[in-house]
Amino acid sequence: MTKKKRVGVLISGRGSNLQALINACKKLDYPAEIVLVISNVPQAQGLLRAEAALIPTLTIDHKDFPSREAFDAALDTALNEAGVELLCNAGFLRLHTPDFVDRWRDRHLNVHPSLLPAFRGLHSHERVIAAGCKISGCTIHFVRAEMDEGPIVAQAAVPVLASDTAETLATRVLEAEHHLYPHALALVASGAVFVNGERVVDANEQAQVPLFSPPLA
Ligand code: GRF
Repeated sequence: MTKKKRVGVLISGRGSNLQALINACKKLDYPAEIVLVISNVPQAQGLLRAEAALIPTLTIDHKDFPSREAFDAALDTALNEAGVELLCNAGFLRLHTPDFVDRWRDRHLNVHPSLLPAFRGLHSHERVIAAGCKISGCTIHFVRAEMDEGPIVAQAAVPVLASDTAETLATRVLEAEHHLYPHALALVASGAVFVNGERVVDANEQAQVPLFSPPLA
């Protein structure tokens, strides 16, 4: 196998997606390894997950910086010093500056708990339920300057049930995120997909049976 891609992960909290990536990276044939986890929140639970996996961690607290530019510059320096090649946001709750986005262009992924471009931003599950959607899901996309925007690498569909609250839907979508993020990172890290004119192209893509919700009889 070719050399594993060196991955940095940015978090702000719980870190369950980070954990899914850590678990995937344990597989010998996985094309990526996590070399650094950075949190902007000192008490983030995800830092403990990284430490348990013996992955180097850093806390870079945005509150210690006079501007978003200075904070992002510190992130950029730390990532470069660690030799990071691919960057994954996993529940990272800060918007990046356009300069940082440009530096990491097409090497920077994010996970969002809706089928983008629908329901960008916060509280997506509440809005999905209020809109009466029958299917929601999650998206892994390359990061661009606008929040939750950028070429889509992979999506997973999740049915919305009549009995769902934002919490129950979030739980079901999160489970899908944990499968989707390692899958998408592997596609990017192995070079199986690439950005072409703001769309991600996968040469080996195959059509699959569509998901119906409610299911067909
Ligand atoms: C996930 O639902 C992700 O889609 C959103 O924030 C949540 C982070 O959860 N961006 P975790 O920190 O990975 O557990």
